[in-house]
Amino acid sequence: MIIAIDGPAASGKGTIARRLAAHFGLPHLDTGLLYRAVGAKALADHVNLDDEAALAALAGALDPAALDPEALKAGAVGEAASRVASLPQVRAKLLTLQQDFARQPGGAVLDGRDIGTVIAPEAEVKLFVTASPQARAARRHAELAGRGESVTLDAVLADILKRDQRDSGRANAPLIRAGDAALLDTTDMNIDESWQAALALVAAKR
Ligand code: C5P
Repeated sequence: MIIAIDGPAASGKGTIARRLAAHFGLPHLDTGLLYRAVGAKALADHVNLDDEAALAALAGALDPAALDPEALKAGAVGEAASRVASLPQVRAKLLTLQQDFARQPGGAVLDGRDIGTVIAPEAEVKLFVTASPQARAARRHAELAGRGESVTLDAVLADILKRDQRDSGRANAPLIRAGDAALLDTTDMNIDESWQAALALVAAKR
């Protein structure tokens, strides 16, 4: 069973994906970490975020076993990730890795932006998890504050809106709900309510 979970930043998809993976005993890949790793490496090596060939080379050299989720979740990395993710050559370098993960025997849970549309259109279960920009900004703000990053709610909201626009507007694998994905709007739900709703949707699809 492949479970594909897509949605915008801070929609709750990551938590839902992790819990579904634990619940069903499936391996889980947070595909945003791949783009974040490329963005972080580009920032560290001072690679221009418009230099598609150089960024694709970084993506090709990525060691998926060496991803450090803690470091990659920093605010500045998300913006760089979204920029590198708009480049077709970067996405192409990360495609096989994700498809191989999805198609391993026994199944998998993947979350990202294009799992149900591009990476695993054949997935048995697809969820599109979303929430209002304001709700997502409040969550991300609390998360960043918890990490000791001091940033205003307005700045977080502006970053979320910019990323939404870039992720949804790009020509290559844009963020879009697959026609056969169940919609889960978590605006007025806490984490446990979101999880219960997701589990009910998955149960209905299986
Ligand atoms: O989900 P997360 O916020 O960690 O993703 C960081 C960025 O990586 C997103 O803003 C998006 O541009 C990109 N991404 C993507 N396709 C995916 C996962 C993430 O383009 N499957």
